[in-house]
Amino acid sequence: MLIELKNITKIYNKEKPNQVTALSNVSLDVCAKEIVCLRGPSGSGKSTLLSLIGCIFPPTSGKAAIAGKQLSRLPDRFLTIHRRHTIGFIFQQFNILPEISVSENIELPLLPLGITPAKRKKRSAELMEKLGIFHRRKFLANQISGGELQRVAIARALINNPPIILADEPTAHLDTRLSYEFMDIIEQLRTEGKTIIITSHDPLVSEHTSIDRVVDISDGRLHAA
Ligand SMILES: Nc1ncnc2c1ncn2[C@@H]1O[C@H](COP(=O)(O)OP(=O)(O)O)[C@@H](O)[C@H]1O
Ligand SMILES: [Mg+2]
Repeated sequence: MLIELKNITKIYNKEKPNQVTALSNVSLDVCAKEIVCLRGPSGSGKSTLLSLIGCIFPPTSGKAAIAGKQLSRLPDRFLTIHRRHTIGFIFQQFNILPEISVSENIELPLLPLGITPAKRKKRSAELMEKLGIFHRRKFLANQISGGELQRVAIARALINNPPIILADEPTAHLDTRLSYEFMDIIEQLRTEGKTIIITSHDPLVSEHTSIDRVVDISDGRLHAA
């Protein structure tokens, strides 16, 4: 199993007046190459669960094994290293830095991995070609269209060739056409054997043919679909 969560609880601000239990007793297994939609209303714990799977933090209690590593046994520094090799993140707002170029944005996750500039350039060129944005490589984020921005975010998530791709409400700021385009790219990634988890309450995502399984979450608890 690529992702194994057993009785996970995540409490923010534990033992403080502003304590929040964001995940309660969550168990979830995801196999390699599976494409899962995590569906739930705002505040239900989607981003928290995605961050946990993305090795941003360990659970407060419970067992989380991501790509063979038990998160609660990893010191912070190793959690970060594991994340850099294992996870590709696509954020809701895409989080593209406005003051550097498209290609520099895409290459960012490779910097802490100590990959040579020549290799970085080759890898980003390949991805930009594949996603149809190579002609935009020297542009800044505010000089490209929304659809192109989305492709930059996808290329950046793929640059370290991670087995797991996590997308947090990727279509929330996209129109219908771009949302379908996004799901077409997800379908393409399926053929490359990526394991993908997408949080969304958009039916265009949860009902798309590329989704293998929908997992519902509310109030920090999972419900079998
Ligand atoms: N960093 C944080 N500190 C404290 N509470 C948080 C934090 N992030 C999220 N929460 C709380 O945890 C719950 C789940 O949030 P979140 O995972 O962001 O849900 P969703 O992504 O489904 O909207 C909410 O009550 C939210 O307010
Ligand atoms: Mg969220």
